Amino acid sequence: MSPLQGKRIVLGVTGGIAAYKAGELARLLVKAGAQVDVVMTAAAARFVTPLTFQALTGRPVLTSLWEEGLPNGMSHIDVTRGADFILVAPATANFLAKLAQGFADDLLATLCLARDCPLLVVPAMNRQMWEAPATQRNVALLREDGVPVLGPASGLQACGETGAGRMLEPIELFDALIDFFQPKLLEGRRVLLTAGPTFEALDPVRGLTNSSSGKMGFALARACAEAGAEVTLVAGPVSQPTPMGVERVDVVSALDMRAAVLAQLPADIFIGVAAVADFRPADPAAHKIKKGSQTLTLELVANPDILTEVAAHPNAPFCVGFAAESCNLAEYAEAKRQAKRLPLVVGNLVQDGLGGETNSVTLFDAAGARPLPAGDKLDVARDIVRHIAAMIGR
Ligand code: C5P
Repeated sequence: MSPLQGKRIVLGVTGGIAAYKAGELARLLVKAGAQVDVVMTAAAARFVTPLTFQALTGRPVLTSLWEEGLPNGMSHIDVTRGADFILVAPATANFLAKLAQGFADDLLATLCLARDCPLLVVPAMNRQMWEAPATQRNVALLREDGVPVLGPASGLQACGETGAGRMLEPIELFDALIDFFQPKLLEGRRVLLTAGPTFEALDPVRGLTNSSSGKMGFALARACAEAGAEVTLVAGPVSQPTPMGVERVDVVSALDMRAAVLAQLPADIFIGVAAVADFRPADPAAHKIKKGSQTLTLELVANPDILTEVAAHPNAPFCVGFAAESCNLAEYAEAKRQAKRLPLVVGNLVQDGLGGETNSVTLFDAAGARPLPAGDKLDVARDIVRHIAAMIGR
């Protein structure tokens, strides 16, 4: 179930060209099961019609303080009563200035001033307007007042200039809102993770690797960040996007991964999700290996076990291992937990190989085995984070 299911959201839309993206955001929120009441400024209604939002949300769209005929004789202020939060996207420079100073000269500004729920703003404007000292002062004031400011992103702008000021994409905003609703179970904790495969060079163009997609490790990094942790993710070669709020260190080989992990210690929690190659070529060729002979013998040497090393570190973090097994899951996972001296191992049967969208895992700790409900990797990751938080006393 989406964390936004059943939430009541007031989506404020102000007058910038990014208003067109607010339609897509409204659609994503409604699809996730939220009730979305859109409030537009007069300028916003020049960019996108209220009818667009009415069609997308199935609810009346409010545009004026003086409008007659609100449903159930509701007063304007009541639009935000019982709302879970107000999200203003896009928020123009002018609207940020009004908010920072407490103006109440239109419906949306009035609702924001009279609210008893959180307010989040998503700036979108021309680069120079964003950089203007007045705007920066207003944004700093809003932050001081406890208003989260999401974005802006940098890039090509509708005005043809390039720089900071673009509104975050609807899907990024959607993810940021989900973060907002996650309990902050790992607040103040530093989490270090590994994810993906490693690639062990045979020669300058070839190597040994495996089919790990990195999805589970990236989902866990995201779930830890949602839970309020400071997260560093050491990633082997994968093509996953970096989750918001996660610091990423890219590596190639197991030796690189080990060095990157050790350089990031100390941490409160270490989660080894990476499918680290157990062996690497003993002597990678300096030049491309030529074909011609009928056989080729590779000599491999064992890679260091990063997780075992971190778990044995003086002042070791709370260490979590993964055990992907093709049979005898309980036996192998528990043996791994004991051998590596880990408080927790996440075991999964990999009959269909690595890289799927969903996962079905069992947690192994000193209390025994606990299967988690199967689900997409992010849901499973959130369950694992809840378990870790409970184990470390959160
Ligand atoms: O022993 P096995 O490789 O099955 O253990 C898997 C767990 O150990 C995973 O958590 C994996 O990230 C970690 N590991 C590691 N370094 C290795 C091999 C595995 O950190 N060289």
